Amino acid sequence: MSFQPIDLANPDFLADPYPTYARLRDMGPLLPMAPGVWLVTRHGVADTVLRNPGLGRDFAASAVRRYGPHIMDEPAFRMVGRFLLLMNPPEHTRLRTLLSKAFGVKQAAELRRLAMTEAERLLAKLKGRGTADLVSAFNYPFPIAVICALMNLSQADRPLFERETRALVKVLEITPLNPEELAAANRAAELFEDYFRHLLAARRRAPGADLISLLLRAEEGTDRLSEDEIIANITLLFLAGHETTANMLGNALWSLFRHPAELAPVRADPELIGAAVDESLRYEPSVHIAARTAFRDLSVEGIAVPAGGLIYVNLGAANRDASVYAEPDRFRLDRPSSEPKALAFGGGIHYCLGARLARIELECGLATILLGLPGLRPENPDGLRWKPTLTIRGLETLPVSW
Ligand code: HEM
Repeated sequence: MSFQPIDLANPDFLADPYPTYARLRDMGPLLPMAPGVWLVTRHGVADTVLRNPGLGRDFAASAVRRYGPHIMDEPAFRMVGRFLLLMNPPEHTRLRTLLSKAFGVKQAAELRRLAMTEAERLLAKLKGRGTADLVSAFNYPFPIAVICALMNLSQADRPLFERETRALVKVLEITPLNPEELAAANRAAELFEDYFRHLLAARRRAPGADLISLLLRAEEGTDRLSEDEIIANITLLFLAGHETTANMLGNALWSLFRHPAELAPVRADPELIGAAVDESLRYEPSVHIAARTAFRDLSVEGIAVPAGGLIYVNLGAANRDASVYAEPDRFRLDRPSSEPKALAFGGGIHYCLGARLARIELECGLATILLGLPGLRPENPDGLRWKPTLTIRGLETLPVSW
């Protein structure tokens, strides 16, 4: 994305985009960025745009515009085109109803047990070391481990899923893939497809209580998920639940390290971890952009948006809106309950399907790291680098010692 105030090549912007966001919020509710493209930075407008039924997804059409007419024949694009995230009603409504049936079955306590087991397994590998980069040693492997455990997949395959997820997720980025990246994304899509087709056959023969068996059983009236729908949306869970959660763990740790007066009570009283997660999701969310396209000519905040017009909703900016949050640039655990929850998980019909699981993962991950590694501190906190991306916000590395 290129819009002058938003300059991903500028290290000052990457280190702290929020002063720029504040200026953009003051400039208006819907800012023109390029012909047919607008940016929303205010909380109230972001919320109403995400709920507007006249706005939605146009993944296939926009891929064809960017890459040419044959792009939807590529395995990666064909698979991603079946993702819940990129569908519109009525297909989205049907698919979300069926997926939610399987995804909502496990109780919070059971998810917490499962997440704690995986967090402690990773912690055990760290314990004796004394130093580590938490991004690669904990934050990235942890959400993959949890999803694999939910699906009862072999532990030995986890590094493979981590690698292939990173290759395929590039299809969702705003910047187009180069030929090598496209080839790697295609290989990843074929690998997921092949792996899960075999696994589905095995789970049909011997069903269990895992998420894949639950997806096979999910029904609404006489309607069920097709095999292709299950395979694509199992893959979506890897993609949607990985970078988001991994980067959010880093952003939460970074926010706490930068605010020792808030970190100290969290270390002393693990009951405060939930508040730390909530405030981190507001203060430094890992997803900054949700995109919507106008299905027809619309008026948004009194501004004409023609059919095909693209609106980028900046969730990171909405979460710092002073008209909604008192002292929005302060990280504080005691936010009044009258303030709305942050928009970190989006809104409207695409509100994050994994939000409940994500919160549990963040709470278990933070508790395990902060309480399990006493004396944990960041190395070189002023030298940390942020990824040069806008959709996902996260640290490249987080070196720590204890
Ligand atoms: C801190 C971690 C997470 C954050 C910040 C996050 C954020 C989001 C956001 C902002 C959206 C909406 C995107 C849009 O409207 O364009 C979304 C959708 C979604 N998320 Fe998450 N997410 C997280 C974790 C997860 C996890 C752990 C899973 C599942 C394993 C998950 C599964 C999904 C799915 C399936 C959707 C699509 C929902 C739909 O289109 O109806 N997410 N997420």
